[in-house]
Amino acid sequence: MRTLETIRQRFSVPFEYSVSFTRTVFSPRNPILRNTLGGQGDSGPQRLLFVVEEALLAHYPALLEDIARYCREHRDVLDPAGPPQVVAGGESLKSAEAVFELCALFNHHELCRHSSACIVGGGAFLDAVGFAAAIVHRGIRQVRFPTTVLAQNDSGVGVKNAVNMFGQKNYIGTFAPPFAVINDFDFLDSLSDRDWVAGVPEAFKVAMIKDADFFHWLCQRTGRLAVRDADAMEELVRRCAALHLTHIATSGDPFEFGSARPLDFGHWAAHKLEILSDGELRHGEAVAIGLLLDTFYAVQKEMVDQDVLAAVAGAFAELKLPLWHDALAPDSDGTWPLLDGIEEFRAHLGGELHITLPNGLGQKVEVSSLDTDVILQAIAWLKARHASA
Ligand SMILES: NC(=O)c1ccc[n+]([C@@H]2O[C@H](COP(=O)([O-])OP(=O)(O)OC[C@H]3O[C@@H](n4cnc5c(N)ncnc54)[C@H](O)[C@@H]3O)[C@@H](O)[C@H]2O)c1
Ligand SMILES: [Zn+2]
Repeated sequence: MRTLETIRQRFSVPFEYSVSFTRTVFSPRNPILRNTLGGQGDSGPQRLLFVVEEALLAHYPALLEDIARYCREHRDVLDPAGPPQVVAGGESLKSAEAVFELCALFNHHELCRHSSACIVGGGAFLDAVGFAAAIVHRGIRQVRFPTTVLAQNDSGVGVKNAVNMFGQKNYIGTFAPPFAVINDFDFLDSLSDRDWVAGVPEAFKVAMIKDADFFHWLCQRTGRLAVRDADAMEELVRRCAALHLTHIATSGDPFEFGSARPLDFGHWAAHKLEILSDGELRHGEAVAIGLLLDTFYAVQKEMVDQDVLAAVAGAFAELKLPLWHDALAPDSDGTWPLLDGIEEFRAHLGGELHITLPNGLGQKVEVSSLDTDVILQAIAWLKARHASA
């Protein structure tokens, strides 16, 4: 009998990228972008295309000219393939059709495999344009300029991007580490109050399962965050982003081949609520509700103290986050659409349910099932709080 041969191969690819924190990133005197891309051009200056979220222009009318001027003044290292391109952002950009159009934009400007897509916008914008950049020529360099709190402290510093499909959040996407991330705090000044606070629940999320000191720091700073204290928000963004990056670098599973998703604490419900509310809830707002549901659950299962739940709920209320949405309620036939989120999360993870819950402050545990009665109690608790507010 002929012996069939198997060749087994193994290789690893090291990834490295910088996450910088700055202000006035497009002032010609700011060296970060120049230093980030300088020396990357294989034969001369680095070819790049800026793609800018449209909503920013109302707040920063000079933004496009500032970018163009920066590129002109640093033309020894930067080679724009065209003027900055303006594209409307928000959750509606997260569609397969929009990604196709973004690919066409890169094609039109003849970006090659070694070119850079410089993406300036919120989390949804970075997800959609980043996904397009990750698939043209099987992936061009992504330099992200996140412009919301949520994008600067969480979504924009990680290794994932995705768009929505088949009524499911983030159904198609890739794991694609950025070439670099540049967080310019100036962009946060123009956020609506709503988007200013919407990034804060992600900080509570990571603090509750990884860093008790940061949790206490957040609870003490809630009042300052609520009145838009820029120094408090900058420190929140830095600490949250650093925890996120440490997790990616040290968890042993940056591309989530396993089923555990610690950074998705509170997210089985959040993703479902975003869809059920038809986009009325922002991602961060849905995360706030998801965290309260799962923290209530953890209290009932004696994993964390009641004090922790009271502190998180109090902080979110002080920040005026919406802590109830009718998408949490049952349908007229008595079924609870939110609970479908558990099954969808299971499928998303690959068949085995892993839900991360806090286990003592600053620590976590994975559970493989959820007691739906307790989740219904959590929903009833949220509803009662809402009714008495
Ligand atoms: N890739 C990931 O790992 C990951 C992680 C978490 C969340 N996400 C995704 O991120 C998205 C949410 O991101 P988001 O909260 O930034 O929402 P968003 O991108 O929808 O932005 C919120 C609003 O702020 C506007 N905006 C953006 N920057 C602004 C600025 N500087 N000033 C004034 N307005 C500004 C936008 O136009 C939008 O109307 C969701 O789609 C979520 O699924 C992705
Ligand atoms: Zn999130």
